[in-house]
Amino acid sequence: MRSRVKVGIIGSRFQGDVHAASFAMTPDAAEVVAVASPTKARAEALAARYGIPRVFTDYRRMLAEDDIELVTIAAPNHLHCQMTIDAAEAGKHVVCEKPLCMNLEEADRMLAATARKGVLLMYAEELFFTPKYVKAKEMAAEGAFGKVYLVKQCEKHFGPHAPWFWDVSRSGGGVFMDMGCHGIAFCSWFFDRAPIKSVYCHMATHVHADKTDGEDDSLCILEFANGGVGLVENSWARRGGMEDRIEIYGEGGVSYADLHMGNALPTYSEYGYGYAVEKAPTTKGWTYPVFEELWNYGFPQEMRHFARCVRGLEQPRATGEDGRLVMEVLCAGYRSAATGAKVALPFKPPAVARPIDLWKPSAGAKH
Ligand SMILES: NC(=O)c1ccc[n+]([C@@H]2O[C@H](COP(=O)([O-])OP(=O)(O)OC[C@H]3O[C@@H](n4cnc5c(N)ncnc54)[C@H](O)[C@@H]3O)[C@@H](O)[C@H]2O)c1
Repeated sequence: MRSRVKVGIIGSRFQGDVHAASFAMTPDAAEVVAVASPTKARAEALAARYGIPRVFTDYRRMLAEDDIELVTIAAPNHLHCQMTIDAAEAGKHVVCEKPLCMNLEEADRMLAATARKGVLLMYAEELFFTPKYVKAKEMAAEGAFGKVYLVKQCEKHFGPHAPWFWDVSRSGGGVFMDMGCHGIAFCSWFFDRAPIKSVYCHMATHVHADKTDGEDDSLCILEFANGGVGLVENSWARRGGMEDRIEIYGEGGVSYADLHMGNALPTYSEYGYGYAVEKAPTTKGWTYPVFEELWNYGFPQEMRHFARCVRGLEQPRATGEDGRLVMEVLCAGYRSAATGAKVALPFKPPAVARPIDLWKPSAGAKH
């Protein structure tokens, strides 16, 4: 029997917990042996929850551990590039959370560093593993819809949980950067990575201008070279909890998938209860608690796949190149929002620290 891949997780809060839980659900492929995060108490609590033996407050110390083969990065966006380069330099394979980094120069440095050291750079886009969405893609491949002309992905809630998301100098932008990255990757994947010809984007800050200079609502249209269109809708202004949906339209058929509602128990409670679903504002009144939440998203399947890639048993289905393409589209989208015009790809933006600079160069000054 092959040995399990030894994993170190960077970050101990929201997504760090998802990574740890996901590996724990697929113990045949990997075991988490360490977690690193500057918040010692949180890192220790995560380690205790999942039986992780080693805790570090400096991720570089964790990278010095010889037995660790794979590092997953679940830290704020502005840290992804340096962490990836440091992990590659230490000879570790990398799974980096979305969005890949802050700009195209960083993406290129991450790709170069991992290629130079001969380690994998895998991009944590779980929608490539979401069972309902995988089913839709399989049906498309079987010809269920004939020629697909429109792929829509929509992800909305009332705003993220941690302060750094609202600070564009650490996040790189607002909801388009944070969640549009999922929809862009999804449409590209669904169209078998057909080249993208152009990007059009509208964005605005409707309700959270007191908290952020980033956009809290965005609409993005992608034109693919195969004639297909991608429509990516995102919001941090949407009340009522989390929404994650796709719609697939072809000349011969149509399919809709709602990630949460189809996996929920329509429930009324006068008194409330423990947990309904990510970002649900309440558990009183009518609510839609989900079951097997992580599995329905595809996180355990994703992490198992990445571990198997490290063993050479599978080829990465979500790569650093996917993350770079998403970054290029994000940059084109912010530019389009500034000019009101479509932006053609390939797009070589001027060197910017953050994609949002292409829309609002002074963003972040007052927050
Ligand atoms: N794939 C998804 O659906 C999904 C969902 C949520 C978040 N994410 C991504 O995961 C990443 C983390 O987001 P989150 O929601 O977990 O944020 P979070 O604020 O909940 O957690 C961030 C973690 O990073 C740690 N951290 C900060 N500075 C660090 C440093 N210098 N070294 C090591 N650790 C450090 C913090 O201590 C914290 O544990 C982001 O890139 C985000 O976009 C992805």
